[in-house]
Amino acid sequence: MLLQCIVFWSFYVLKVNKIMNKSRSNKDSLKKPRGKFKKPGIDDFHKADPMPKDVFLRVNKILKNANLFRYIGNKPADSETALLERDFTKYLGVKYALALNSCSSAMFLSLISCGVRPGDKVLVPAFTFTAVPSAIIHAGAVPVLVECNERYCIDVDDLRKKISSETKALLLSHMRGHTADLERIVKLCKEKNIILIEDAAHSLGVLWNGQPVGTFGKVGCYSFQSYKIINGGEGGLLVTDDEEIIVKAIFLSGAYEKMYEKHFVKSKFFELYKNTLPAFNLRLHNISAAIIRPQIKKIEDKVAIYNKNYKFLINRLATSKNISIPKIDPRERMAPDSIQFKLCNLSLKEAKEFMNKVRDKGVSLYVFGVHEDNARFFWNWKYFQNSFPLEKTRNLLELTCDMRLPVSFRKVHIDYIADVILSVLNDIKKNEKN
Ligand SMILES: Cc1ncc(COP(=O)(O)O)c(C=O)c1O
Repeated sequence: MLLQCIVFWSFYVLKVNKIMNKSRSNKDSLKKPRGKFKKPGIDDFHKADPMPKDVFLRVNKILKNANLFRYIGNKPADSETALLERDFTKYLGVKYALALNSCSSAMFLSLISCGVRPGDKVLVPAFTFTAVPSAIIHAGAVPVLVECNERYCIDVDDLRKKISSETKALLLSHMRGHTADLERIVKLCKEKNIILIEDAAHSLGVLWNGQPVGTFGKVGCYSFQSYKIINGGEGGLLVTDDEEIIVKAIFLSGAYEKMYEKHFVKSKFFELYKNTLPAFNLRLHNISAAIIRPQIKKIEDKVAIYNKNYKFLINRLATSKNISIPKIDPRERMAPDSIQFKLCNLSLKEAKEFMNKVRDKGVSLYVFGVHEDNARFFWNWKYFQNSFPLEKTRNLLELTCDMRLPVSFRKVHIDYIADVILSVLNDIKKNEKN
């Protein structure tokens, strides 16, 4: 009996210790890793960010009460998804938010809610992810691609040129979190009577003149897909200050019958639009909301780490005359969870050699022009007719390097990455001279 008690007690202590260690490591996930530096490998660049401790508690609570569907409770406060929406309105300083299953859904519903109709033209930067023009196609509209500049942002002069009487909206994608001159763009859209919708999938945590990017247009769209600052697996958010737009988006997302009463939004427009709109069912799952919500309070800490790593890396890379780094606009507070820079005076063949050698040393960098089938290349979007050559964007992207900078990386990792990039570039240029 005594022996049985000892065995049971040892097992219990071991189990508790394991759980405690696990939760400690979750709690400390943004702190410096201890121990010897280990060279990063390709996989380290693509690991998803760890979950804060609160996520486990929230998810468990929901699993226990089985309230998985956002409309299962009696009131908004019973729904993790509605609480997520409320938290985001506070974080972003907007009136209304609608949680959805992806940013793609948020862009699609934004276009429809703003009155974009089949056949309308929607401007979109040529440097973005395929999901963005796809949302325009899904809404039955026609994407019109606009050139991008050396800061990887939309070229406002080309934007002005491409506006026509058929243009209904600009779906401004802040690709990789690079923010275009928002004052100029907001002014231009007003002058030309064009609806501004922001794709802020990569911009959570980014500020322009102190204001969150994604809150400048009529509607803003965010993503919680795993490679974004909040790792929700999948998920999206639509934000707006427009009461009519949020009501339409709530119905379109799948709020049937009186389900709208389970949102924190109160509006006379619910009665007006009831039963007049199709329901697409693009709602967020309560478990996803429980995963996403506790991560809001981690955004600022992550932004600080991203900026520290990014600035350290660009200072080192700027020492090479074969690298051109996009200028930082003093109006922008970046949240760089990745880096883009252009190779100078390298042929495509040399760029390929560079990419392969850097990757052989465990640094997961892609050169866009030599990465076939890349979903961020407008020339691979064969599902619609693009009638512009877009030489400027093509030339920019062909020699552009793209690399994730996970939040777990520290100065030692960044130093290693810079050493690899600079030494491989040096070798290639040296061989060329010999
Ligand atoms: C720039 C950009 N916009 C929008 C999206 C779509 O986001 P989601 O995967 O949440 O639909 C992505 C996806 O990665 C993206 O990169």
